[in-house]
Amino acid sequence: LHTAAKDCLSSVLSQDVQIPAERPRAVFYTNETDPANHTEHHEGRHYSIPLEEVKAVFPHGLPYRFQQQVKTFNEACLMVRKPALELFTYLKNSNFAHPAVRYVIYGERGTGKTMTLCHVVHYCARQGWLVLHIPDAHLWVKNCKELMQSSYKKERLDQPLQASSWLKNFKTSNEHFLKEIKTQQKYVWGKRESTEQGRPLGEVVEQGLARVRSASDAVGVVLKEIKQQCHLGSFRVLVAVDGVNALWGRTTLKKEDKSPVRSDFRGGCAIVTTLSQTGSLFKPSSAYLPHELLGKEGFDALDPFVPVLVPNYSQREFESCYHYYLHRKWLQHEQARTEAGKEELRFLSGSNPQQLERLAGPL
Ligand code: GTP
Ligand code: MG
Repeated sequence: LHTAAKDCLSSVLSQDVQIPAERPRAVFYTNETDPANHTEHHEGRHYSIPLEEVKAVFPHGLPYRFQQQVKTFNEACLMVRKPALELFTYLKNSNFAHPAVRYVIYGERGTGKTMTLCHVVHYCARQGWLVLHIPDAHLWVKNCKELMQSSYKKERLDQPLQASSWLKNFKTSNEHFLKEIKTQQKYVWGKRESTEQGRPLGEVVEQGLARVRSASDAVGVVLKEIKQQCHLGSFRVLVAVDGVNALWGRTTLKKEDKSPVRSDFRGGCAIVTTLSQTGSLFKPSSAYLPHELLGKEGFDALDPFVPVLVPNYSQREFESCYHYYLHRKWLQHEQARTEAGKEELRFLSGSNPQQLERLAGPL
């Protein structure tokens, strides 16, 4: 498709109107970097997350192609879009004394579900929430060479390497909570190792990082402690799970630990998830509706939830993204600047964010 599309572009008629090379940046950009201040006014504009913050907030979790953009442009620009604004409104108006509300972001392939989740993660991180980010739930349940039986519960299968890297990232993005939160009970890791009651949660994380065998149990303990404590009101928690549908239905594992979303967060917490076909082994590629990707079991487990649809780019969003790519010289083809070139891109991408990025960017 790629080369065909690019050839198509070059065959664009020559009488095209040239689009002025440098549009004012204001058309597609906003200086407002705090998601809490994003409103309809910023819709369709890109805001930039300082790179230091990207490292701290997203030690993992940004889509690969987007990371490539970040490297190339040396800036991380997210578009302010309706679904994220909708979620901010929900979060701002939540009563955190009530049990956690679950939100399910869904939409066709490549529409920007993961990026919407990242915008929400950024919002919550800026608000000082503790963030439990699972950037690809499919990885947690896929067949894995390093599968081990849990030392804590025999029927549970663990993925210590996944757990280890999750702990590392958790540590990076929630540094100050590691000291603040104290364990409410004693945990025994092996014959000689244990963590006493009243110790900082950071010790549990270190235990998991030091001993691969303990990594999965340490993840379990971290989740348990946070769950038990967040309803007390001293901190708020975001549970952000990308590809949550991976947790139900057929998997390559016999048993999985579904605790992050299943468990009853009593309050002080919001659960924002996405459904994604990408990475899923057993679903047809066109499936995207909640009941298709979750199946009955998953649907019932998440029910009640608030569905949030992420559609392809609107007219305005397409224009904004197009100008952003032109401005960043991601779109280099000379015909891309013409009105007809732009229309060709719109047509070929179907205004799908991922397709547009693929047509525009280098192979
Ligand atoms: P699947 O999970 O595969 O269905 O995709 P998705 O819906 O999660 O889409 P994702 O969020 O990964 O976005 C796909 C691509 O579109 C990204 O890699 C970006 O190249 C582009 N894109 C989407 N949203 C934005 C945005 O806000 N800013 C920028 N710069 N690019 C975006
Ligand atoms: Mg995704």
